[in-house]
Amino acid sequence: MLFPDYRPRRMRRSEALRKMVRETNLTVNDLILPLFAIGGKNIKNKIPSMPGHHQLSIDHLADQARQAFAKGIPAVILFGIPDRKDPLGTNAYAKNGIVQQAVRAVKEAVPDLAVITDVCLCQYTDHGHCGMVDGKHIDNDATLDLLARTALSHARAGADMVAPSDMMDGRVAEIRNLLDENDYSHIPVMSYAAKYCSAYYGPFRAAADSAPQFGDRRTYQMDPANAVEAIREATLDIEEGADIIMVKPALAYLDIIYRLREETDLPLAAYNVSGEFSMIKAAAQMDWLDGQKVMLETLTAIKRAGADMILTYFALEAAETLGN
Ligand code: PBG
Ligand code: ZN
Repeated sequence: MLFPDYRPRRMRRSEALRKMVRETNLTVNDLILPLFAIGGKNIKNKIPSMPGHHQLSIDHLADQARQAFAKGIPAVILFGIPDRKDPLGTNAYAKNGIVQQAVRAVKEAVPDLAVITDVCLCQYTDHGHCGMVDGKHIDNDATLDLLARTALSHARAGADMVAPSDMMDGRVAEIRNLLDENDYSHIPVMSYAAKYCSAYYGPFRAAADSAPQFGDRRTYQMDPANAVEAIREATLDIEEGADIIMVKPALAYLDIIYRLREETDLPLAAYNVSGEFSMIKAAAQMDWLDGQKVMLETLTAIKRAGADMILTYFALEAAETLGN
């Protein structure tokens, strides 16, 4: 049927009609809130490039987690800022490391909130790389055991899910095996499968104090120019036992989300990263655009592209707008 018999505008005449034919419905269930844990008490250090976000001591972090749960957000993902860094990133897998403490506090405060932990070494190594450093090169295989030990220590602290973000080859299998050997076969792995070497991580690295001290992450994170390679990366992680596949960043990589949605039947996550958040916040502060509308449009687009869940610094604001 063609115009004038068919008129697409008929179904856009009222909000009720638009709702009936809406293909994508963003809900609070889709959101995962990232939080930054730091040592000490009653600490709330503003992160200037991420308005509304702070490095939180555990007391405040537990409060934030409570608020997120009250708004219907199903999960948080925790990042840690340790008080000491060393070449081996020892505090990443310490029993009383900052993330391990944060996990215990959140699980005690809000047992029904899912706690995901980011598994990586870059916040904990003095060189700021996600893996072990041998001279100027990153030693993939020497890193795997430390990543697996980090994941295990998070599970022992009570984490509901672990999310390796390091992009070392073979880490999903290593983590899966060590978890299974230690009776944590029920803990899922959310793999940062297609994680690109992106300048959009800038605000996060300032927030988490995790910028590499030499070189960059191009030998382990993906080249932004590649798409077919994302399928290979995701396929490997699935074979190694990943339960959820992630694409990161989200907005400049909607095509990757779409492709992986077509290629795999695992749940798909997208990380709406720090720089994507900061850009919208900055433009809104300048009154150059409507921050709330752009937020909802962006999150809806990520879901429309195929993401089942979105890690986003907008989670609390979006939950307020969406209700539950
Ligand atoms: C650590 C990690 C990073 C992010 C999540 N985990 C930074 C990086 O890889 O440099 C980025 C998150 C964001 O920008 O919001 N590997
Ligand atoms: Zn890292």
